[in-house]
Amino acid sequence: MLDLKTPPTHPLVAASILSADFGRMAEECRDVLDHGADLLHVDVMDGHFVPNLTMGQDMIRGLRRHFPDVYLDVHLMVERPDDYVDSFAQAGANLFAFHLEVCREMRDNGVDARALIDRIHDTGMHAGMVINPPTPPDELEPYLDALDLVLVMSVNPGRSGQAFIPEVLDKTRWIKRRIGAGTRLEMDGGIKPTTAPDAVAAGADVLVTASALFGAADRSVVIEQFHRSGE
Ligand code: DX5
Ligand code: ZN
Repeated sequence: MLDLKTPPTHPLVAASILSADFGRMAEECRDVLDHGADLLHVDVMDGHFVPNLTMGQDMIRGLRRHFPDVYLDVHLMVERPDDYVDSFAQAGANLFAFHLEVCREMRDNGVDARALIDRIHDTGMHAGMVINPPTPPDELEPYLDALDLVLVMSVNPGRSGQAFIPEVLDKTRWIKRRIGAGTRLEMDGGIKPTTAPDAVAAGADVLVTASALFGAADRSVVIEQFHRSGE
């Protein structure tokens, strides 16, 4: 199992299964892992925070059964992540990442981020906070020392295959200066071999990839390019 807390020697590749062939999910995951992906990224959408619906705890349970030693990074694009902590932990998630935009800093009756981080940690999962492209990073600051991972969205969330938004690189550098060695900085959206070097130069050490990886003619070449994108 990947040790998320140890700074990686090269950028980690988080394969986002949103672009996998859902009818052959286990086979698809096996393939990207065999070609060098470091972890699996699972995008959960509730039809409210974003319009789309994707997958939930049963997908995590199935992946955990097939891949007992693979790190499962769960990105919750949902209005009430606090409703799902225990069920995702029981299903076998390793990282539970929720959006700053659903927290009380940004909306009435929003989620209490501090309490949620504590609950996530009580289950034994790592805690991640996600920030959308238009959101300034200031409200993240009080939580940075408690987080195991910060996820900077480099597209507006909701679907795969969108273009990378370079304006998020400033915010990424800002966050990088404020996190400790045990906190990973992940970037998600429009990551390709051509955009990854900028993401890594700004401080990202975990790269999420859906369409560029699952759509590649040679997946091992793409993963190798991501692993070398800091060189
Ligand atoms: C978007 C999801 C991403 C998405 C990335 O809302 O959070 O993880 O799958 O897709 P690509 O890599 O195609 O931009
Ligand atoms: Zn994602």
